[in-house]
Amino acid sequence: MEKKEKHKGCQCDCGFTRRGFLSSMGAGAVALAASGKIVTPAAAAGVKAPMDSLSIQLMINGRSQRLLVEPRWSLLYVLREHLGLTGVKIGCERGECGACTVLINDIPRYGCLTLAVEAEGSKITTLEGLMQGEDLGPVQQAFVEKDAFQCGYCTPGQIMAVEGLLRAKPRPSVAEIQREVSGNLCRCGAYVNIFKAADRAAELKRS
Ligand code: FES
Ligand code: FES
Repeated sequence: MEKKEKHKGCQCDCGFTRRGFLSSMGAGAVALAASGKIVTPAAAAGVKAPMDSLSIQLMINGRSQRLLVEPRWSLLYVLREHLGLTGVKIGCERGECGACTVLINDIPRYGCLTLAVEAEGSKITTLEGLMQGEDLGPVQQAFVEKDAFQCGYCTPGQIMAVEGLLRAKPRPSVAEIQREVSGNLCRCGAYVNIFKAADRAAELKRS
């Protein structure tokens, strides 16, 4: 199966890996203001952002949020550890597995290879943003219907990849589906049903 370009999530194409700095991350993003005020775990613990923090505005799942972040923080880190959006999974943290896939301006990207500051001004969608109130969105529903997972760890990333594909191409071919999820590794080998789920999700979205 074809693997996607090496740095799917890296907008600068620099090849920079973040494994090292992620391990040294301390707590500390402080949500400043938002359309609704957020108290992050770090803020609740009274942790102050370092002096070199930057104030950025992110649009996440339709909600505008202003945050203080360190320039080195990945979008994955900020979404999970500071905003509690745990649908974004941590896998390899170096652009190989796709567990951290989110949509940035409707295009699937690796959150581990995207700096939070790079995402400023962009529209970010996570798995949580696909919910329709209390109901599953079409792609989530299709994955359940087609039993497209085993352990489920890769599933959020697979769903976001399929969501991105269907936003760009409502009637993808099987080859296009296979290519789209080729950057999302499934160690359980659930690919056959993942392909069926993507096809079913396209149907559900059109209905
Ligand atoms: S955690 Fe981002 S690609 Fe693996
Ligand atoms: S369902 Fe287990 S890794 Fe994909």
